[in-house]
Amino acid sequence: MNKIKLILIAIAVAAAGQQFFGSRSADAQAKVETAGQKFKNIKVLNDVPADQIGPIMNIMSASLGVDCKMCHASNDRDFEKDGNEHKDIAREMLKMTFAINKQFFEGKTEVTCNTCHGGRERPIAVPNLMQVVREERPKQPATKPTVEQILAKYEAALGGKAALAKIKSRHITATRVEPDGKTTEPEEIWQEPGMFRVDTRYGDYLISEVVEGEKVRKTGNKEPITLRPDEMEQIRREAQLFANPDLASVYTKLDFRFVDRIDGREVYLVLGTTSSGARERLYFDTATGFLVRRVATAMTVIGPFPFQVDMSDHRDFGGVKLPATVRYAMPAISWTRKIQEVRNNP
Ligand code: HEC
Ligand code: HEC
Repeated sequence: MNKIKLILIAIAVAAAGQQFFGSRSADAQAKVETAGQKFKNIKVLNDVPADQIGPIMNIMSASLGVDCKMCHASNDRDFEKDGNEHKDIAREMLKMTFAINKQFFEGKTEVTCNTCHGGRERPIAVPNLMQVVREERPKQPATKPTVEQILAKYEAALGGKAALAKIKSRHITATRVEPDGKTTEPEEIWQEPGMFRVDTRYGDYLISEVVEGEKVRKTGNKEPITLRPDEMEQIRREAQLFANPDLASVYTKLDFRFVDRIDGREVYLVLGTTSSGARERLYFDTATGFLVRRVATAMTVIGPFPFQVDMSDHRDFGGVKLPATVRYAMPAISWTRKIQEVRNNP
């Protein structure tokens, strides 16, 4: 089901994207296709850029902890149909949320579906009477570490400059594990200078993501799948960061913020800014030095659409360590990649 959902969102957005990207020229701003132009039955989100509809639907689903079919006739088709009372309520809720932000928060997206719903179909009105254990931020170091120190430790943790330099290319076999923990798909990853490619096989449907230099493309059985700019950026970032400790080559600005905690372990939070101005949060384990989490965020009219990558289970593959388990998550979609075998310089 997850696969169908993914493909469908891709297709829905692909059709929208074709025109959107086709018209990407100097006056692209003026020509961005709206949801009202692209989709069949839009009554509230008319003026929203068409390629925000996918992320908005995912945000609404995750904020309420439901599937698409709570508001639609099914999980994978007939999204334009009305007749589901939840879809009507959701339209009213959208209007209410916009109105609250407009009236009380100067139009900023401070209040979102999740502010009230918090992952539940119905918000809880009554305060919790159980003791709430709040985790304090860890004690901060007397002298702040520099970004150079954090990156040097990361490089050493991966195996050191010399070991990293020896590996020019890789062929990796992995498994993509769906959120149910049982459904899996085989994956193959190729990495060579200037090229990064991931193939995922859903039975006889092959999804490929390819990064060549700055170019990014995605195909389904060789047919092009149009990507949103933020999706393209994230696929490119995965390729740029793969076993690359030189984050200064990826982010034009890197700032250490503070020591935080993830799952009980202390981490350095570093804010990375790309040349296009996008900001990402990077978390390095203070003890092991590994980059353990990366969070990027795209904005929508109903609030942020986060994309989180969690790296764990670092293992030695021919002198260089790689995270053998990587979990990818965004609202209503998540999966885990488990590396099985790595062939260096095949
Ligand atoms: C909480 C209710 C809710 C959930 C959950 C939800 N949607 Fe929607 N969806 C809506 C509403 C409301 C609209 C119409 C918006 C408008 O009229 O402005 C809509 C419209 C759409 C449209 C545009 C259809 C058209 O042609 O008019 C698509 C595509 C869509 N949803 C896909 C999805 C997908 C895929 C999911 C699951 C990931 C999903 N939706 C989950 C409420 C929901
Ligand atoms: C200010 C708080 C608030 C915000 C923001 C909010 N909701 Fe709600 N929502 C509620 C409350 C309270 C209820 C329950 C009303 C009831 O029980 O009759 C509800 C009910 C709903 C229901 C009906 C659930 C059911 O089982 O009948 C849907 C669907 C829904 N909200 C969708 C959304 C969506 C989508 C958004 C974001 C666009 C959103 N809500 C934003 C407070 C909020």
